[in-house]
Amino acid sequence: MESLAGRAYLVTGGSSGLGLAAARSLIERGARVAVAARDRERLTKAVEVLGASAFPVSMDVTDKGSVDSGLALAAQDFGGLDGIVTCAGLTFAYPIETLPEARLRHIVDVSLIGTVFCCQAAIPLLRERRGRIITVSSASARHREEFPHMGIYAAVKAAVERLTAELRDEVKRDGIGVTCISPGAFESEIAGNFDPDEMVTAYQIWVRERGPDSDGVGDPRYFGEAVAHALSYPPGMAVDFMEVRPNVPTPKV
Ligand SMILES: NC(=O)c1ccc[n+]([C@@H]2O[C@H](COP(=O)([O-])OP(=O)(O)OC[C@H]3O[C@@H](n4cnc5c(N)ncnc54)[C@H](OP(=O)(O)O)[C@@H]3O)[C@@H](O)[C@H]2O)c1
Repeated sequence: MESLAGRAYLVTGGSSGLGLAAARSLIERGARVAVAARDRERLTKAVEVLGASAFPVSMDVTDKGSVDSGLALAAQDFGGLDGIVTCAGLTFAYPIETLPEARLRHIVDVSLIGTVFCCQAAIPLLRERRGRIITVSSASARHREEFPHMGIYAAVKAAVERLTAELRDEVKRDGIGVTCISPGAFESEIAGNFDPDEMVTAYQIWVRERGPDSDGVGDPRYFGEAVAHALSYPPGMAVDFMEVRPNVPTPKV
């Protein structure tokens, strides 16, 4: 496996949760990381925590211009880019029938279209260094026992998986490695968006119908380790897909 020391990465959604954990794992291995997100205050805090190898990039992944300029800025500052990790994503817990249109569009915009914009902007930069793209799915795309009422999110993440597989094939001739990582439940701020009433309803369903099979909630640093691992393969080798989930028995309720 190759060392990540001195390498340069951009992590979207790097100010919180899994993205922050990914940035930390890369910095621990000697990489420099551009941490991209929207909220300046959270970005500043994250970069303070991560230290001198991190720098903040204001970026809204739903805005193509913002993505293009954020990636260009990172590549310019670092003198090139070795990879991007597309962690920016969100969801809301609603039954499909009642998911408000604005929220439906928001989930698709951030998690799917945002991922596409990031890949499009990264490819020309990564060609120069035979770099890597890591996209982020969710165990919700495949596993029934994950938190309920996230059907659109699960569908969008399934689309991200398919997109990643297609992309892998398209850019292999450029020497770019592409990996999709699917996390199970990890501690983060993701449920902060949930409408409290909808959250209670979904939680009750989860405990009653799915919770007994749940695998618990994990420490995000293990997601970060998976990202670092996938980035450490030599050119010509790439993990296609990796699913990292907690694996502890949850008491029946
Ligand atoms: N935590 C889990 O259990 C879990 C499980 C499976 C998959 N995932 C996936 O893991 C990824 C990270 O989620 P998380 O759990 O770490 O959530 P989180 O703690 O809420 O972090 C989300 C990050 O995305 C950023 N973000 C949101 N909208 C953005 C936008 N339009 N442009 C740029 N950045 C944006 C947020 O910063 P700003 O709001 O400041 O922009 C924040 O840094 C997501 O793709 C999520 O679907 C999480």
